[in-house]
Amino acid sequence: MKEATINKQSYGKTANGVAVDEYTLTNANQVEVKIITYGGIITSLSVPDRKGQLANVVLGRSTLADYEAGHPYLGAIIGRFGNRIGKARFKLNGQEYTLAANDGPNSLHGGRKGFDKQVWTAKEVPGGLELSYLSRDGEEGYPGNLATRVVYSLNDQNELRIDYTATTDRPTVVNLTNHSYFNLAGNGAPSIENHLIMINADRYTPVDQNLIPTGELASVAGTPFDFRLPRQIAAGIRSGHPQVVLGRGIDHNFVINRTDNTSLVLAASLYEPNSGRAMDVLTTEPGIQFYTGNFLDGTLLGSSGGLYRQGDGLCLETQHFPDSPNQPGFPTTVLNPGETYRSTTVFKFSAR
Ligand code: BGC
Repeated sequence: MKEATINKQSYGKTANGVAVDEYTLTNANQVEVKIITYGGIITSLSVPDRKGQLANVVLGRSTLADYEAGHPYLGAIIGRFGNRIGKARFKLNGQEYTLAANDGPNSLHGGRKGFDKQVWTAKEVPGGLELSYLSRDGEEGYPGNLATRVVYSLNDQNELRIDYTATTDRPTVVNLTNHSYFNLAGNGAPSIENHLIMINADRYTPVDQNLIPTGELASVAGTPFDFRLPRQIAAGIRSGHPQVVLGRGIDHNFVINRTDNTSLVLAASLYEPNSGRAMDVLTTEPGIQFYTGNFLDGTLLGSSGGLYRQGDGLCLETQHFPDSPNQPGFPTTVLNPGETYRSTTVFKFSAR
């Protein structure tokens, strides 16, 4: 299989004077992904439509200063813990850890300065880019020095693959993901509501008013959360279902149907009928957060040149379930010294 070509260029310096680079991976079909070392952010991802027309299908900002000024995790690597930890605390081996609360009472996406705001060390590897980051013991309240590696690679089957690994020197919790917002009609297209989505999940995890899972694994049958057959997103997000009301749309973790705990399985498929662009998401993770961009509120100027409004992009964040450290019934997110955390997600693009 031919490997993607890689080009590197400077993306400027952070406000603190740290140099940031941008890497461009390009395959034989002109699929092109741009990644910056700040936050490991995917700033742009161009894929062809059914006529071969390329468009960038992810939301972003225009400059490093824009990203540093703040944004809702556009395209970023999320860590040390993706999604929410209720009341910003958890117990591990009898000890309580207090985290940075940055979402009301909760800790969201790693805390105040999560992995999305760190400058990663980059190394070119065959067909891709390896990013590494050492999160120090106590950072954002988490125990253990966590050595994290994320490899982005692109092949000629139009698969963007993300391999995450991490090791620790003290027991800790880990839940890594990527927070890209997709719009298969193109960055800046008005809404994802016309997209069809299939989610390979019989169950999802309902939440309370703080968007913390109640612990229940509820059936999707007969609810707006039933995406087992492809359905238009509009149908789900305007329903009056109490869970949709809490999330202002869909902002929920789905329990991926799988027969074992480790293989790469199809979690979701997305399709945009006008362009014909499609994306399959495969993962080794047990869950996927389907977030319909409910909190995009017209205050953020995007790389499209326009403002991002509610539903202008959607996220499909492969993950362990939110709040797992406080939920004994959920698959564990504990990582012990001597173990290696491994997670793989593939975004496969096509058009029809
Ligand atoms: C969460 C949303 C949150 C968003 C932040 C998503 O992963 O599920 O609740 O608002 O990230 O942009």
